[in-house]
Amino acid sequence: MNLVIVFSLLFLLFSGGRAGIVSFDRDNSPPAILLVPGAFHQAVVYDTVGHLLKNAGYNGVVEAINLPSVGSLASRDDDVKALRRVMDKYLDLGRDIVLVGNSYGCTVIGDAVLNIPSATTTPPYDEEGRRRGRVVSLLYFSGYLPYTEQVVHPETKPDIRLVSPKWFAFLPNDSPSAIPKTVRWDGDLQSSPPDKEFYNVLAQRNPAAANYWVGQLRYSSFAALNATARYIPYNGDFRVIYVAGKQDNSVPPELWHSYLDQPGAKFILEVLDGDHVPMLSRPEEVVKLIINYTKL
Ligand SMILES: *[C@@H]1O[C@H](CO)[C@@H](O)[C@H](O)[C@H]1NC(C)=O
Ligand SMILES: *[C@@H]1O[C@H](CO)[C@@H](O)[C@H](O)[C@H]1NC(C)=O
Repeated sequence: MNLVIVFSLLFLLFSGGRAGIVSFDRDNSPPAILLVPGAFHQAVVYDTVGHLLKNAGYNGVVEAINLPSVGSLASRDDDVKALRRVMDKYLDLGRDIVLVGNSYGCTVIGDAVLNIPSATTTPPYDEEGRRRGRVVSLLYFSGYLPYTEQVVHPETKPDIRLVSPKWFAFLPNDSPSAIPKTVRWDGDLQSSPPDKEFYNVLAQRNPAAANYWVGQLRYSSFAALNATARYIPYNGDFRVIYVAGKQDNSVPPELWHSYLDQPGAKFILEVLDGDHVPMLSRPEEVVKLIINYTKL
């Protein structure tokens, strides 16, 4: 092997990995990608998606966030704050971000962008010529969303016990007036087990993997799931992509259409042949969609 080839290979080796957070080029570096799981789920559900994104040039700028309300009695505010801490780290450095949510995680990313600059409306530089960090896109995978009406008129928002799937279990429930503390997913294991409600596409291909993920589920805090949203990002302020799952048993077409059909709602609709948790059943397709919407 001659020296030219050796040097070319070395050059490729050292220039091929895109800059990490330490030394990024403020204008040409890719946005950071923050991944937020749904109720009952932990950040590890994004491990495969995270690896694929790192290999695709997002090394050092992909983070999956554990929601405080999963496995504890923390509030919706605690969830939003946990995400905001990570968002602010990048935004303060002038780095753009893409927010990815799954199911309830979409309500968290929606609340978290209140008062945050949007790449669709805010110029990239402030008056002093400093690069601003902005939100490029919000991607809602199988989103379980607040309606605009519930933010404008919070008194219209029903208790989650009246609108949730019948397999949600609210505990304690020992009396009609009991105030629940936790929500579980095992209220009807006979006809609605989680490998059907969450992981049906994964279970067709790999039942053992679906079982493994059932074993990773935790309870969620009732206060977090029953909270009222404070902000709706999908009325034109931000670019919001709703990714519906063709085989999603938890958010059926009537439900996701009811979000998209609201007056004033502005979504880009993508449809994936996935179940409720496509980061596990369709990680390559999820990554393709995320990468496509890192560009404005
Ligand atoms: C759940 O939320 C609804 C609507 O905001 C509220 O009226 C209700 O009191 C909440 N339930 C509990 C047990 O806190
Ligand atoms: C990629 O994003 C653009 C908008 O930036 C959209 O028009 C296009 O349909 C998307 N393509 C895919 C394959 O998601």
